[in-house]
Amino acid sequence: MQGWIPLVPESASTFSWKVDALYFYLSGVTLFFALLISAVLIFFVIRYRRRTPYEIPRPVAGSHKLETLWTIIPFIIAMTMFGWGARIYFEQYKPPENAIEVYVVGKQWMWKLQHATGQREINELHVPVGRKVKLIMTTEDVIHDFFVPAFRTKADVIPGRYTTIWFEATKPGRYHLFCAEYCGMNHSGMTGSVIVMEQREFDDWLSGNTGSTTPATAGQQLYQTLGCASCHGATGEGGRGPTLAGVFGTTQDLQSGQKVAVDEAYIRESITNPQAKLVLGFGPIMPTFQGQVSEDQLVQLVAYIKSLNTGGATAPTTAASPSPTVRPGASPTRNIR
Ligand code: CUA
Repeated sequence: MQGWIPLVPESASTFSWKVDALYFYLSGVTLFFALLISAVLIFFVIRYRRRTPYEIPRPVAGSHKLETLWTIIPFIIAMTMFGWGARIYFEQYKPPENAIEVYVVGKQWMWKLQHATGQREINELHVPVGRKVKLIMTTEDVIHDFFVPAFRTKADVIPGRYTTIWFEATKPGRYHLFCAEYCGMNHSGMTGSVIVMEQREFDDWLSGNTGSTTPATAGQQLYQTLGCASCHGATGEGGRGPTLAGVFGTTQDLQSGQKVAVDEAYIRESITNPQAKLVLGFGPIMPTFQGQVSEDQLVQLVAYIKSLNTGGATAPTTAASPSPTVRPGASPTRNIR
């Protein structure tokens, strides 16, 4: 569908054609009405022009039928745009379960990335083709925006918050990564590449880049250093805070009577602003760690708490371990989103 159309960026993800199709629809509708209105305008100008200087036009009364029609038709068209756009939006912002996770931290003026297996990158992201990749993104300073045109993937990264998006690359190659939010003097230089590799090459790349500890392991060390375990140990020691093992992905009852889904954002908030959403049965005794831990360290703590679901920091997470059985087209879960 793309390629032969100029002005459309290269497409290399499963979202590309969906986003393009919506854009073609929007452009098509716009073009159709622009031409229709211009044609009718020109026709009326000629047809109903003033022919004599003393001409008085026939009076025109309103038409309910016509007004109803030109209200309902545009309404239906606008709703198709809304419905279609919303569908793609929700698909892009709801990452699938079985995705490889990459942590992204924006900073004036670079992208810092870390794989769940520990490899760190700056302004480069290596991913395997045909696998779902989930990005958990935040920033150390101002708002940036992670934009890969070839994937039609674009999302703001916001201070104090996690933005999560995902993509699945369909074609090996090197694709531009941009910052798409003006973030200061060197904003235009805040670029990089996403390198999509065959699974085997990616495995080689991963194994050739070890040496760094995984975010989960670093988080575990930090958890000890900060003394978190004295109040809530991973398996319930301490007892002054909720048990953390197995908590990720669950829904917790809060002191306020509300419920909260335990995701990356909630864990982050519970570290920087512990009083915000207290779990039912626990008092407001935890001090804030705002300013004591960097964004990188917050990411590590989050990764550690997530790793407790799969048996601790040393156990490889199933999504992150390169599995030779999960290949494009071969995976039974590939089409379930
Ligand atoms: Cu970062 Cu613009």
